[in-house]
Amino acid sequence: MRRPSLTLRLTLLFGTASTAVLVVLGYLVGIAVQGHFAEIDGDELRGKVELVRHTLAKLRTAEDFASMPGRMDDALIGHPHLGVRLSASDGTLLYASADATFPAEEFPLRLAEGLPTSPAIATWRHGRHSFRGTMTSVPTGYAGMPRANLAVAVSIDHHVAFFEAFARSLWISIAAGALLTAALGWVAARRGLLPVREMTAVARSISASRLHDRLRVETLPPELTPLATAFNEMLARLEDSFRRLSDFSSDLAHEFKTPLSNVMTQTEVALSRSRSPDEYREVLYSSLEECDRLARTVSDMLFLAKADHGQVIPTRERIDLAREVRELFEFYDAFVEERRVALDAAGEGSVDGDRLMLRRAIGNLLSNAIAHTARGGRVTVSIAASHDGTVRLAVENPGKTIPPEHLPRLFDRFYRADPARQRSTGGAGLGLAITRSIVTAHGGSIAVTSKDGLTRFEMSLPAGSGAVLSPM
Ligand SMILES: Nc1ncnc2c1ncn2[C@@H]1O[C@H](COP(=O)(O)OP(=O)(O)O)[C@@H](O)[C@H]1O
Ligand SMILES: [Mg+2]
Repeated sequence: MRRPSLTLRLTLLFGTASTAVLVVLGYLVGIAVQGHFAEIDGDELRGKVELVRHTLAKLRTAEDFASMPGRMDDALIGHPHLGVRLSASDGTLLYASADATFPAEEFPLRLAEGLPTSPAIATWRHGRHSFRGTMTSVPTGYAGMPRANLAVAVSIDHHVAFFEAFARSLWISIAAGALLTAALGWVAARRGLLPVREMTAVARSISASRLHDRLRVETLPPELTPLATAFNEMLARLEDSFRRLSDFSSDLAHEFKTPLSNVMTQTEVALSRSRSPDEYREVLYSSLEECDRLARTVSDMLFLAKADHGQVIPTRERIDLAREVRELFEFYDAFVEERRVALDAAGEGSVDGDRLMLRRAIGNLLSNAIAHTARGGRVTVSIAASHDGTVRLAVENPGKTIPPEHLPRLFDRFYRADPARQRSTGGAGLGLAITRSIVTAHGGSIAVTSKDGLTRFEMSLPAGSGAVLSPM
């Protein structure tokens, strides 16, 4: 089933709320109007009772009493809609006006013995007509008939007709009002949701080539600002990843181009004329060297690709970092001698992790440090376990300060701070990327600082359980 749209929901909500309010209002207005009519009719009835009372009070003698019907007719002239009936206490009819309609069985107020003189008012229907009337006992001035029962009724057809017409137009107005507010609600909801549609349009128009597009947050209503901001931030992250990815593939092509064209050129030159076996051998050695470089780059990249997909699950064993560093020092012995630099190690600490991988991570830092230290310099490795449960290993070397703009990207693949100088020395710029992914796989982090001719790489790893604590 299709879910109802926000516009539909808001429209229904507006419509229902306004209908409820209008119905209650209409009901109250109806009650007020009817109350008003009842009051007018009551005043009229009381007036008529007074009129009859006044006429009867003037009867003194039997003759007066005999002329009563004529006097009553005179008094009631000019009051069409009015019905008056006078009866003796034994029920004999004394007087009834011309159009008095009081079918006794339908007149709801029956006069009992000792009825109070203050009139109570009843409303009833007779045939197609409606009446309001009252019954009361009135005194006369004639001693032979001191009291008489008086029934007075007025036709309220005109009020009933008015009220029916009024109620009809009231309910029509209420229905129209409800429809109108629902329609207004619809318009308001559509207008209110306009920014959402604009956002949708922008989102739709975004493609890989237009990742720089952003939603204009300042033009949106405040309710949508967090959504738009989050959306823009997502776009920025996507754009960044996308840029890195395309940089990466162009770097990759670049990286492979040089060794491949070296091999091709050498081979072409060698084939241009016949050579001695020694010359061929030399060309083949040189090709092998280039292929070796290519193969190393490829295997580094495969390693990184695996690391990116979380496939590098280190086999955990307790690793004494100081011992690993000592062994690495031995491994780099020849390199160190050639570069005339000194190596120093201090402190100790152990972590749980994969020996080969950690050795590779530290080795990358060490070989970079040795390569970037000026002759006669000293590379220091310091290990310290801190109280927050981490072990820090820092490799520090004097050398050219790395310009700060390079520092954030140093761990990116193929990134070299000084490509012109580095390409000749062999590295493909993957060493630090690999180091970082190893450290990350071990749940640690790595950072670099470089100032005043001192460059320091510091990795921080979770300490192995039971690690020796030594002050930093
Ligand atoms: N100790 C260091 N001193 C100065 N620059 C360094 C140091 N270590 C790394 N770098 C810079 O970082 C870049 C990336 O290092 P790395 O990823 O190991 O690649 P590679 O060693 O193959 O060039 C290097 O090219 C170099 O510019
Ligand atoms: Mg390196």
